[in-house]
Amino acid sequence: MDISANVPLAQRPDHVPASLVRDFNLYSPPGMINGETDDIHALWKQIQDTHPDIFWTPRNGGHWVVTRYAEIADLTMKPELFSSTEPFVPIGIIPHVGPSQLDAPEHPPFRKLVAQAFTLENLEKAEIRARKAAITIIEELKPRGRCDFMHEFAGVMPIVTFLNLLGMPESEQPYLHNLAERMTPGHPEMVAAHAEATAYIEALIEDRIENPSNDFVSLLVRAQVMDRDLTEIERLNIVRLVVTGGLDTVINMSSFATTYFARNPEKQREVKDNPDLCDRVVEEITRRFGTSNLARVARKDMDFAGAKLQRGDQVLGIFPLSGLDERVHEDPMGFNLHRTRGRHMNFGSGPHLCLGMRLAKRELKIFVEEWMGKMPEFRIAEGTAPSMSTGIINYMRDLHLEWDPA
Ligand code: HEM
Repeated sequence: MDISANVPLAQRPDHVPASLVRDFNLYSPPGMINGETDDIHALWKQIQDTHPDIFWTPRNGGHWVVTRYAEIADLTMKPELFSSTEPFVPIGIIPHVGPSQLDAPEHPPFRKLVAQAFTLENLEKAEIRARKAAITIIEELKPRGRCDFMHEFAGVMPIVTFLNLLGMPESEQPYLHNLAERMTPGHPEMVAAHAEATAYIEALIEDRIENPSNDFVSLLVRAQVMDRDLTEIERLNIVRLVVTGGLDTVINMSSFATTYFARNPEKQREVKDNPDLCDRVVEEITRRFGTSNLARVARKDMDFAGAKLQRGDQVLGIFPLSGLDERVHEDPMGFNLHRTRGRHMNFGSGPHLCLGMRLAKRELKIFVEEWMGKMPEFRIAEGTAPSMSTGIINYMRDLHLEWDPA
């Protein structure tokens, strides 16, 4: 489903030269068929290779697009030039999600508060539980010889992780797994599922007001920011940010990596045979399989990458392309366990650098050690094809695997 289908085409403003206009729809970019592709990163790379470093599209309200490491880095690292207030294309498609959409001076105190969810103790507890969940699923799946990777493996670990991070019982996992599936863009119940998620978080906050403990949501209920209590909507947005920030991203990154390894058995064997390179594998996964396509708004008129931006222009960065830029990386589409310089913006950078990055890397490490390390050699299930889509996030729709049970 193209959620931007009803947005009318914008008029080209005078400061945009016709030579920099391209027909580009984030929800169905050139190369996609019916909003699907079997390799989203190859599709983005093709766009990087065939489009100018910066171009303007009349789709989705009219916005600029940048595809190179240098400009994506500028978007994230130069808050004096670019505001975070409208990171989603088209503007207004998602209700305001709190701290990630604030600029200084409001952003730092909120960020400090959210960071309290990620204490070393919480990370360690969440990691232990996530690993246990991964091992249980793998033991169950191994003798079966095939699985629906998205639903049976990838989705479970991040949910167990955030339940532990937020101090919630793991018994909620099956319900939340189902809810997360219904919230996927394109699902017929998506809108209702988002409303259900809001009601769920509101009830959780209500419960912690009545039954305070020492978990993160209870801390939020008591927290003060800039010498005042948080408003109801701020509490809701903070919990929603931690939950949504940690779900789709890890699920999709591990699914993209799994698709790659299913198609490249020699790399699968290389990863399995080199457990001592696990941390390198995690770094290479985060470079090669980025997930987020986020925007900034120009704070002033400026020359940028050879274009003239006007104050208020929205500029979209295809973040995964920061890791796939041959101006920065040798053989960017390859997967190199020995790569030493893997610079990319897949976790952002600057004031909004992903607060969950360390946790995400721990989860990916579990994926590499447990799934890659312990599963028999797997391949794409016969008669199926991986299906991927894009939008604010690049996501996997379907991934079926098979293997010869030991
Ligand atoms: C592979 C996994 C992940 C990826 C690729 C990822 C990506 C990102 C990116 C690109 C940003 C910057 C947004 C911007 O510049 O506008 C971000 C911010 C954020 N992420 Fe992640 N993320 C991941 C995992 C997580 C996890 C596991 C959590 C929490 C459980 C999390 C929570 C957050 C939060 C709270 C922010 C907002 C930080 C701020 O605005 O100050 N992320 N993430």
